[in-house]
Amino acid sequence: MTGGAGYIGSHTVVELLAQGHEVVVLDDLSNASAEALRRVGEIAGRDVELLEVDVTDEAAVLAALERARPEAVVHFAALKAVGESVEQPERYYRTNVGGTLNLVRAMDAVGCRTLVFSSSATVYGAATQMPLTEDSPLGATNPYGWTKFVVEQVLRDVAASDERWGVALLRYFNPVGAHPSGRIGEDPRGVPNNLVPFIAQVAVGRREQLTIFGDDFDTPDGTGVRDYIHVVDLAEGHVAALAKLAGGGADGDGGVRGAHAWNLGTGTGSSVRQVVAAFERASGREVPVRVAPRRAGDVATSYANPARARDELGWVARRSLDEMCEDTWRWQSGNPQGYAAS
Ligand code: UFG
Repeated sequence: MTGGAGYIGSHTVVELLAQGHEVVVLDDLSNASAEALRRVGEIAGRDVELLEVDVTDEAAVLAALERARPEAVVHFAALKAVGESVEQPERYYRTNVGGTLNLVRAMDAVGCRTLVFSSSATVYGAATQMPLTEDSPLGATNPYGWTKFVVEQVLRDVAASDERWGVALLRYFNPVGAHPSGRIGEDPRGVPNNLVPFIAQVAVGRREQLTIFGDDFDTPDGTGVRDYIHVVDLAEGHVAALAKLAGGGADGDGGVRGAHAWNLGTGTGSSVRQVVAAFERASGREVPVRVAPRRAGDVATSYANPARARDELGWVARRSLDEMCEDTWRWQSGNPQGYAAS
């Protein structure tokens, strides 16, 4: 697993270990913490091997795969801040696209051609027709989004060129929440870009108030609507996709080859104000808000049609918005400074 010490990666390691898989993590720790993996080891009852590798280092990626000899790769390692990608596009393409090319070449060299890729609903660009299905038109609105769009296309082309490849393009909606143990969770560096980590830091007293980016959208309460999905549901989606590609899917058929996109979302949208209210209930804390103008590039509404993942992977998101907030709060209140204190 690349990026396995990060937020979604660490939760996915827990679920893979619970299913009896062996996991080797490659991570450069540029936006992740070795402490997260140590705690994953605690939760799972066994240690996880960490190889400190930067995916842009082609030789290091190959050496790591030669050591790990994986049956399959789950590829999370990437940069993900939309605003930063506008300022530093070359760095985003180098890491996200170049890193994936290095990985594909190394996988081919070691004869491993089963890949689960961390894509995003961002590949639907500025689509307005909801819910989004895997056949909705693709696009992007910023360099980060284009890197996910380009990598998906690269992987479709690779899979088309050699029938031994099996690739899952998992399009995440808005991952939030934390492991129910409260031991691992999202630990953004600097000011959080995303809604739920920001709210959590307000509730715990690290920040004064939430800024709501626009309350004049064409939505029921005027604030933006998104499809929030519990990170443990998301992690289970990766296990299901891997099983499908490896031949141990819910329907027990042979391993599926070719490239396949699956939305991982709940199918239900929640507004910013609904998330704030749910978090206040979960935490028992008030979350002060102020309303500011819209953030550049934000759409009014985005939510998934998750039927394809249900039908083909046998996977559905089961956890509610309240659970997402309760689990985030358990993590944030127990670790107010994230992993830094450890
Ligand atoms: N929001 C606020 N205040 C904040 C942060 C967010 O009001 O401080 C609002 C946003 O305007 C939006 C909603 O909360 O309506 C969710 O915003 P996030 O930044 O948490 O999530 P986005 O839907 O904007 O971002 C997600 C992924 C990105 C992806 C992007 C575009 O996190 O990886 O979708 O598809 F690129």
